[in-house]
Amino acid sequence: MADKTVFFTGGAGFIGMHVVPMLLERGYKVRIFDNMFRGDRDAVGRLVESGDVELIDQDVRYGGAVQQAMKGCSHVIHFAAVSINKSQADPYESMDINMVGNHNVFAAAADQGVERLVFASSASVYGDPEKLPMHEDDRLSPLTPYCISKRAGEDLLGFYQRRAGLSWVALRFFNVYGPGQKTTAYYTSVINHFVNRLRNGEPPVIDGKGEQSMDFIHVHDIARSAVLALESERANVPVNIGTGIDTSIADLARILIDAVGADVEPVFNPRDVLVSRRAADVQRAKEVLGFEHTISVRDGMTDLIRNGG
Ligand SMILES: NC(=O)c1ccc[n+]([C@@H]2O[C@H](COP(=O)([O-])OP(=O)(O)OC[C@H]3O[C@@H](n4cnc5c(N)ncnc54)[C@H](O)[C@@H]3O)[C@@H](O)[C@H]2O)c1
Repeated sequence: MADKTVFFTGGAGFIGMHVVPMLLERGYKVRIFDNMFRGDRDAVGRLVESGDVELIDQDVRYGGAVQQAMKGCSHVIHFAAVSINKSQADPYESMDINMVGNHNVFAAAADQGVERLVFASSASVYGDPEKLPMHEDDRLSPLTPYCISKRAGEDLLGFYQRRAGLSWVALRFFNVYGPGQKTTAYYTSVINHFVNRLRNGEPPVIDGKGEQSMDFIHVHDIARSAVLALESERANVPVNIGTGIDTSIADLARILIDAVGADVEPVFNPRDVLVSRRAADVQRAKEVLGFEHTISVRDGMTDLIRNGG
């Protein structure tokens, strides 16, 4: 594997920092391409000292820089993006980074004939699901500039596959949580909110009956899926990465109460809420990648609370 180098945009971010050690373990060298807007400079510095990781402090908006930095790389993982909340606050920036950035990375990968490109897509491409579990062939209805760019990214990969034989996998990550996550994370901020209250001796407050749900998946499993996607025999499809289990907000509150060991009951705030639910159909992940989650929500959350990971 000595000649295998992964060009990894956004590799210094939350999920990236869990993927890089797995890549090194498998004998890859890693070239992180990240503008460090949200990257963890200290953690990257420690990895760079290992000798098999380089950091290119650059921006995916600059196509020339992407082309130049990708030279000599055999594989690409494209994670650089700005988040859903920022995409609503500033659609212009979001289009530049998420749409133009996607294109710069995909076009360079096609030009340079890399063996495989793995793209971080998102479960948010489905919009509000019409049924559970959510299957890859369901109707897509992306609602924000972020989600629209993820869907367009998948379509662009199809273009470069047809035009230049690019081999790709788009991973539709569900609700990722785990050590290293920023407390501002859009969907999973509820975890942080509940935990902060519990640590202050206050009960979690739940709107409505707490029936709204998410498919929480631990970042360690997410990272495994990215490595599997880099090496899978089948490619050129979007693949859901979730547990297949929808955990309601009420269930989450109970799991966190147990994990913190607090002697409280959740408080229900009676009001009408739009109940949205999410759970991935996980069949394709099994068939295409041989992927199944290994960490249950209860174990993952408990570990996060008790050991910081
Ligand atoms: N965390 C989740 O719950 C989740 C869910 C679905 C999809 N995703 C996707 O997975 C990927 C990784 O997510 P994450 O949670 O690690 O995000 P993150 O924000 O922690 O990491 C993104 C990285 O990209 C870098 N970056 C941002 N703009 C850049 C630019 N213009 N040029 C170069 N680098 C840039 C940031 O500095 C950061 O290190 C993203 O594409 C995200 O959209 C995440």
